[in-house]
Amino acid sequence: LNYLTPKSRHEVLDLLLNGLRRLEYRGYDSTGVAIDSPQANDIVMVKRCGKVKVLEDAITEHFSGKEYDEPVMTHVGIAHTRWATHGVPCETNSHPQRSDDENSFVVVHNGIVTNYKDVKTFLEKRGYIFESDTDTEVIAKLVHHLWKKHPGYSFRELVEQVIQQLEGAFAIAIKSKHFPGECVASRRGSPLLVGIKTKTRLSTDHIPILYGKDEKSPQTCEKDTEAPKTKEHRPHGQTRELAVLPRTESTSEFMPLEEKEVEYFFASDASAVIEHTNRVIYLEDDDVAAVRDGTLSIHRLKKCLDDPHAREITTLKMEIQQIMKGNYDYFMLKEIFEQPESVVNTMRGRVRFDSKSVVLGGIKDFIPEIKRCRRLMLIGCGTSYHSAVATRQLLEELTELPVMVELASDFLDRNTPIFRDDVCFFISQSGETADSLMALRYCKQRGALIVGITNTVGSSICRESHCGVHINAGPEIGVASTKAYTSQFISLVMFALVMSEDRLSLQQRRLEIIQALYELPDRIRQVLKLDSQVQELAKDLFQHKSLLIMGRGYNFATCLEGALKVKELTYMHSEGIMAGELKHGPLALIDDRMPVMMIVLRDPVYIKCINALQQVTSRKGCPIIICEEGDEETKSYSSRSLEIPRTVDCLQGILTVIPMQLLSYHIAVLRGCDVDCPRNLAKSVTVE
Ligand code: G6P
Repeated sequence: LNYLTPKSRHEVLDLLLNGLRRLEYRGYDSTGVAIDSPQANDIVMVKRCGKVKVLEDAITEHFSGKEYDEPVMTHVGIAHTRWATHGVPCETNSHPQRSDDENSFVVVHNGIVTNYKDVKTFLEKRGYIFESDTDTEVIAKLVHHLWKKHPGYSFRELVEQVIQQLEGAFAIAIKSKHFPGECVASRRGSPLLVGIKTKTRLSTDHIPILYGKDEKSPQTCEKDTEAPKTKEHRPHGQTRELAVLPRTESTSEFMPLEEKEVEYFFASDASAVIEHTNRVIYLEDDDVAAVRDGTLSIHRLKKCLDDPHAREITTLKMEIQQIMKGNYDYFMLKEIFEQPESVVNTMRGRVRFDSKSVVLGGIKDFIPEIKRCRRLMLIGCGTSYHSAVATRQLLEELTELPVMVELASDFLDRNTPIFRDDVCFFISQSGETADSLMALRYCKQRGALIVGITNTVGSSICRESHCGVHINAGPEIGVASTKAYTSQFISLVMFALVMSEDRLSLQQRRLEIIQALYELPDRIRQVLKLDSQVQELAKDLFQHKSLLIMGRGYNFATCLEGALKVKELTYMHSEGIMAGELKHGPLALIDDRMPVMMIVLRDPVYIKCINALQQVTSRKGCPIIICEEGDEETKSYSSRSLEIPRTVDCLQGILTVIPMQLLSYHIAVLRGCDVDCPRNLAKSVTVE
């Protein structure tokens, strides 16, 4: 939304397309854009199946001529890249979704509206005909229905009414030809921020919230009433008349942020706005943010006891270079090669190598409470879960507490018992993964202490945790996680070190680990030098159907993570196998053609790994061995090996995972796969 300097529609479209490019990693099966047409009060939409480039070409074809180059003062445009949840990727299902064929209201949406079938039936009974298979279309049509019913309502009031009717997760931005120059956005569950760009310094660092005139006194409204609504129990298919809720205070409406010349951006992620501004507001669940006549206001229907009554304007530290590919062909490759620096950033100011001590500012006040806990639970999804598997053994050793590692989805399925004296860690690069967030809320409700380990400042997991560690790996754009994994790993190691600070018997072990952390960036640099050797291996492997990766102890997590990388990037089958389980099944897969990798390092499970290696070679298997530099004895079992430098046992996983990251990258390139955007996947999965 532009009030800064006149911009042509072309410029606005360029700005939107650029934003989409920055967000493409969040979803890339279809795209769309809606802007004002030169004809007064009309909206033009262009949508395409495929990536942003396809949309860009369609836009060039669609928009041409003088009227698109004429400068306009006020402009609202919305755009979206989709990761399909309801309805196959196609033009009709891509966003924006519209209320009617006149494009009265158009909406872009992240998340899933879980009660969309009920809302759809309700609207169909009132004559609405649906054109897509998406849940999103109900939002556009519901605003339209309410607009007809309540002609006196402002755009923002209409959206407020709409979100009351939605169940599930959403971040939405809506534009209407009946409210030109306005845009209204809201969120629940899915992330949404407002970027604010001004020519001069902003006159304020917060925006007060405007509340609804609720019959209940604000003081009596407890936090729980603000939680996402639980499903109403009504017989399947039965719809209800929509209840009209109280309108929000309108006396000081649109006053809060009244800068003279300003551009506003609504986005699901800061990387879409960082090249324009570093000043952002993270919206909270059920906030409704409206821009009208160049001013931004934030509304909520109900006031809560612990509500700060304002939304702070945060200054982001992110640099534009961090979200650019630089000289690399892919973000993933850049992120793999950033690891010598990203691990330093994770440790910066925390591991004090001179005094051999570790301080985690974000959790230090909670350490006494954590030390009294019954058990530690580490919960996450995908790669983040693997970082928990990788550090479990060390956490058990240094905290002397029971440590459970859980996949968030399975944890929720089991209704796992959680107690007040449990400490639950939620590990998530994005801080927005729906399964992890739901598990967090489940544990929080049961009184556990919640610790967030995330890479995204301001993310939902960050905000809803009692305390936490920000892993500081820098923005990760490649869908397959790499540097976030090694930084999560180090964060958990640092936590183990903090917990064991006053255990005399563990001091020798702590010193050994701190020394190894000091040497780690150099060791990582050494491993990265294996790149060309790994590329050669990839040439041997890329035409195979399957790859087995075996290991145990500290390196079992590398097997799981390596197999995940191979699967998601190359679409080859790959399986991480606990070497101890080899004889209980996987051995049947071994013959002279099955590609196998084995991690065999000089650690406490070395002898057991050698046994597994012999079991494989005696079945004519010819494994590629990851072993320690100069370990001739281990190398003698196979003709192919990758030698990694020595480090302390509990940090080996960081060095062994890097060849696996490189291998999956090279196989993906050789197979012609889109490395940064693997099919069917998304970086940030904000739906259950
Ligand atoms: C998605 C991504 C994975 C990631 C997982 C958990 O599936 O494709 O790379 O590991 O989500 O994401 P999180 O942001 O919670 O770490």
